[in-house]
Amino acid sequence: MIKVMTVFGTRPEAIKMAPVVLELKKHADKIQTVVAVTAQHRQMLDQVLELFRIEPDYDLDIMSQGQTLYDITTKSLMGLKSVLEQEKPDIVLVHGDTTTTFAGALAAYYQQIPVGHVEAGLRTGNIYSPFPEEMNRKLTGSIAAIHFAPTATAKANLLKEAVAEKNIYVTGNTVIDALMKTVDPAYTFEDEMLNHIDFLRHRVILMTTHRRENLGEPMRHIYKALRSIVEEIPDTEVVFPVHRNPLVRKVVEEELSGADRIHLIDPMEYEPFANLMNKCSLVLTDSGGIQEEAPSLGKPVLVLRDTTERPEAVAAGTVRLIGTEKDVVYRETKRLLTDRHAYDTMSNAVNPYGDGKASQRIVQAILRDFGGEETVMEEFSL
Ligand code: UD1
Ligand code: UDP
Repeated sequence: MIKVMTVFGTRPEAIKMAPVVLELKKHADKIQTVVAVTAQHRQMLDQVLELFRIEPDYDLDIMSQGQTLYDITTKSLMGLKSVLEQEKPDIVLVHGDTTTTFAGALAAYYQQIPVGHVEAGLRTGNIYSPFPEEMNRKLTGSIAAIHFAPTATAKANLLKEAVAEKNIYVTGNTVIDALMKTVDPAYTFEDEMLNHIDFLRHRVILMTTHRRENLGEPMRHIYKALRSIVEEIPDTEVVFPVHRNPLVRKVVEEELSGADRIHLIDPMEYEPFANLMNKCSLVLTDSGGIQEEAPSLGKPVLVLRDTTERPEAVAAGTVRLIGTEKDVVYRETKRLLTDRHAYDTMSNAVNPYGDGKASQRIVQAILRDFGGEETVMEEFSL
């Protein structure tokens, strides 16, 4: 038996690791799966665990209001020390670029346990953007023994850093596996407010913001621009599930509360959120995961950041990096709402991030490297 421990802690890691956990469990004759969560996020993590019916074997429950990077790193590291000592897994899988990811990789390294990095090789080249994610993924990449790169571009980034090619598998992104399990064109919402939105006659803008480097003034700029757009264009409506970070909530409250046709709601469960993405006209976000999901649903995405580690959909023309300047956010959003050609050009469905088989490829690779199995699936390619 190969003992595989997955470690994750935030909403996006959970969404992207859930298909991997479910796939590992399908191989219960060869793989023993252990799930450890740091719970760097609490409610936003639990929503995902519930949806995919995953019950963690270990829950460190570390989240505190206004936690610092030091809090997350030290609590995760110390908590995982004893979990790893007890379980002694053959491999630890971490995902992406959060502080849980880095602490999980470091904790495993200190016990000389090999690390598999899911969503490896994303880079902006700027260690302060996104902060601290770029450094988290570089450090995790330095520790990892196996790198599951979602795309050929991510693989190329790793090769440039002298990672041995035999340790890199191009798998596609597991977020596409999760999305394909979740989106249903006939979906109806449980929330009556969402069911009452007229998606045919109104242009619905879906908005999310949470990046640390956007906290404060950049977010204020974004919200002011959005408010002007909605005031000016009467058939627009905004759905904005507001992140639980109190620093995000404060500025949202100050700039947007009470505005007509702007619905401020709590973070949504993944199933309604993915289906809302499928029904909306346009997405404004600083999220990483949403930049991967929305293009596959044919939704134009304006990214409220100056850099991206996900250049594939920018190259395909469905994602545009617009930063956070008020005038630019206003102008670019308005352009998509008033210029049919500009909108149509950006609304082609493209799938540069995956084909729904990433988790299968990851598990096959583990069976090969740790179980001596011969078969390996063909790599993901465009
Ligand atoms: C974290 C990750 C970021 C990822 C994002 C996904 C780090 C440093 N940041 O950022 O890479 O893109 O998650 O959303 O790893 N909170 C709650 N309940 C929750 C979740 C958060 O109340 O379920 C509040 C808490 O007050 C918490 C704050 O939000 O202190 C910030 O959470 P934190 O995980 O530190 O940062 P994020 O901005 O969520
Ligand atoms: N998401 C969700 N509910 C929401 C907002 C986002 O389920 O209200 C999902 C979204 O579909 C994506 C993931 O959360 O899969 C992205 O998480 P987030 O933006 O918090 O983090 P990032 O991807 O930027 O790390």
